[in-house]
Amino acid sequence: MTDSSFLISRRNLLLAGAGLALAAATPRRALADGVREIRISAARGRASLVRSDLQTEVLSYDGKVPGPTLRLQQGLPVRIIVENKLDQDTTVHWHGIRLPNAMDGVPGLTQPPIKPGESFVYEFTPPDAGTFWYHPHANSLQQLGRGLAGVLIVEQHDPVAADRELTWMLSDWRLTPKAQIAAGFGNQMEAAMSGRVGNTVTLNGALPAEEKVWAGERIRLRLVNGALARIMGLRFEGHRPVIVAIDGQPCDPHEPDGGRLLLGPAMRIDVSLDMQGEPGQRYRVVDGFYDELAYTLVELVYGPEPSTRAQPPDAPLSLPPNPLPEPDLTTAERHKLTLQGGMMSGNGMVGGGGMMSGGGMMGGMGGAAWSINGQSMTGDGHANMPPLLTLKLGRSFVLNLRNETAWWHPMHLHGHSFRVVSRNDVPNPIREWRDTVLVPPRQSVDIAFVADNPGDWMLHCHVTDHQTAGLMTVLRIA
Ligand code: C2O
Ligand code: CU
Ligand code: CU
Repeated sequence: MTDSSFLISRRNLLLAGAGLALAAATPRRALADGVREIRISAARGRASLVRSDLQTEVLSYDGKVPGPTLRLQQGLPVRIIVENKLDQDTTVHWHGIRLPNAMDGVPGLTQPPIKPGESFVYEFTPPDAGTFWYHPHANSLQQLGRGLAGVLIVEQHDPVAADRELTWMLSDWRLTPKAQIAAGFGNQMEAAMSGRVGNTVTLNGALPAEEKVWAGERIRLRLVNGALARIMGLRFEGHRPVIVAIDGQPCDPHEPDGGRLLLGPAMRIDVSLDMQGEPGQRYRVVDGFYDELAYTLVELVYGPEPSTRAQPPDAPLSLPPNPLPEPDLTTAERHKLTLQGGMMSGNGMVGGGGMMSGGGMMGGMGGAAWSINGQSMTGDGHANMPPLLTLKLGRSFVLNLRNETAWWHPMHLHGHSFRVVSRNDVPNPIREWRDTVLVPPRQSVDIAFVADNPGDWMLHCHVTDHQTAGLMTVLRIA
């Protein structure tokens, strides 16, 4: 069997398997108008996050944590009916999808919240293939922090050659010794620091143990950081992951800086991973973002079979680009967005030790811990959020995100993907597209995009406590 026939046959097998699993997992039907319909409901539930005999009370979509992985087709319309079986208002935000403003799921800003017992019909046509996710945009600290989130994959017409596809949805929980979700959401001190970083990271809803792999195979791995606040820096011992897409958008395939995949909350990275380890061996995947708190996320465990390939397949790694409008940097209008607030020193996280020393709160912000250009919008979205800026529809913009704080901020813009054009005024050689960019303490990032999607769009930090404590604003495109 040649390499390529191995590749195809394995892939077909996998696609067939995936299709079966999907039919069971996602109730769906096509209506007379040809639009595919999906239903999901948000409700209380239980999940075995850490051990099969320990049930954690969670909030979940369709009773699962994470919620069902929704697979949509690029360019094909979909109707998603969300039923609220919670005892509080909710909405769903389709993070990273460039969709009409009324479908963006921000309560008060783009839609009325979905009341308990009610439903909302989301309809859109995903323009971009890639890895996205969905989560509530109401009472986000509690709803996301208690489990409401799921992966949304938009498939392209011709999937890229890989033997297998894996998705790792990473979630971070703060659990009590009895495996219940600890109280204390919205702690003000924490909100002015790292946010609610938990003590238990799950992979696809369970404490990760092993990922079974085979020597010689090429895996497309979709990584999603669905945490409230935890930043991750993943290293694959003995392997060289190649980044092929960021936040769903294809990029020039490249190895990560220093071999570390940096994933702030809400960020996604797709990697191509050639399994070049030894049969029968184990290799750790370690998250070492917080120095003192490195842990093994999961182990890659090789089956005993010898490699089927003498060397990695030579199929190209690059993915076809999505139809994104290219910003014109020569005519772009420029704006500065200055992020301020928080504790004045930040070298760690709550519980990480030593971080209280020398800290002092920014004063004078009326309860909010953070601000953008001196203004603090708090919460998750509500009526009467005046836009900070009005951007002319169709025009190119460069936003200079200047982080004057001591903390990292994954800054997210709704409704658009943007190019990261420079960091600290140094041109960024990769110029990748993102919808969420991690801005390190006291650094700045320039992002560029065409304001082609009309409406009021949120721009906020995706560390949920930071967002709800003021690191949020609204851009109007008209
Ligand atoms: Cu994924 Cu406004 O967020
Ligand atoms: Cu979003
Ligand atoms: Cu932040």
